[in-house]
Amino acid sequence: MTTELAPQLRGVDPDLQILTAQGVSMRFGGLVAVDQVDFSVGLGEIVGLIGPNGAGKTTFFNCLTGLYQPTSGQVVFQGAVLPPKPRRVVKAGMARTFQNIRLFANMTALENVMVGRYCRTSSGPFTSIIRGWKFRREERETKEMANQLLDFVGIGSSADHLARNLSYGDQRRLEIARALATEPKLILLDEPTAGMNPQETRQAEELILRIRDLGLAVVVIEHDMRFIFSLCDRVVCLMQGKVLVEGTPEVVQSDPQVIEAYIGTGPAEPEGTEPDGIVGDGGPRNA
Ligand SMILES: Nc1ncnc2c1ncn2[C@@H]1O[C@H](COP(=O)(O)OP(=O)(O)OP(=O)(O)O)[C@@H](O)[C@H]1O
Ligand SMILES: [Mg+2]
Repeated sequence: MTTELAPQLRGVDPDLQILTAQGVSMRFGGLVAVDQVDFSVGLGEIVGLIGPNGAGKTTFFNCLTGLYQPTSGQVVFQGAVLPPKPRRVVKAGMARTFQNIRLFANMTALENVMVGRYCRTSSGPFTSIIRGWKFRREERETKEMANQLLDFVGIGSSADHLARNLSYGDQRRLEIARALATEPKLILLDEPTAGMNPQETRQAEELILRIRDLGLAVVVIEHDMRFIFSLCDRVVCLMQGKVLVEGTPEVVQSDPQVIEAYIGTGPAEPEGTEPDGIVGDGGPRNA
């Protein structure tokens, strides 16, 4: 588990919140998918968001990132209320990856990452058409940065491969590189290890720690409880749209409500054989 602040953040008050969501709700007709959720992320913090299938985790990410306009509540990021517009959320410094990978399948890995960077470049349509010096300089810098990010996530040798030809695990890494190209302060990862083998999962854990060491805050949704409890500083468990429990991994994994939500009460166990916490993969994954 990680408690120390990244070098870039030493001297910064660790209690400073980079993100605060207050009373966020999202209703789809009669279904309340997210119900009055209060949620915060501190500078340099890795927060795990867990909960059974359908608990509202992805919907909550969609509310934070402007994909959905919450039915009620507000999201404050770096001291300012965020408008529910994905492009403006990215520009404000929040990036994400998707549970169902969303890459430009017929573009190379390098081009996918370069697209992420374009929200920070200033060349407009005119400079792009005439390919003036400013456009060429920005394009060179963008390419250099994209190559560095591919190396950083461990797929530098696949820069020229089409995204659709990459393995599932490498596509997930590519999505992270593209998100990092937007120069975020906070990155939200929706099931980053889904479909990965144990070795890739360990590499993903190490990658997330290196992202935190760059000075970013991270929120990660995962069903793999071993991954969540070893990686995160704090864990929030959602259940039917509501926050069920929140705390350190030690507190959350031994909480009876969390154990019941994941394992169910089941038949009574003989005395002395009750689970003393959740380990391993705590729930089914989506395809
Ligand atoms: N666009 C939508 N329209 C209607 N209902 C939706 C929509 N998106 C999600 N839901 C519903 O909201 C609830 C929460 O879904 P969500 O995808 O957020 O859960 P989740 O916690 O991410 O689950 P999983 O672990 O399976 O990914 C579910 O009942 C789902 O069917
Ligand atoms: Mg989901």
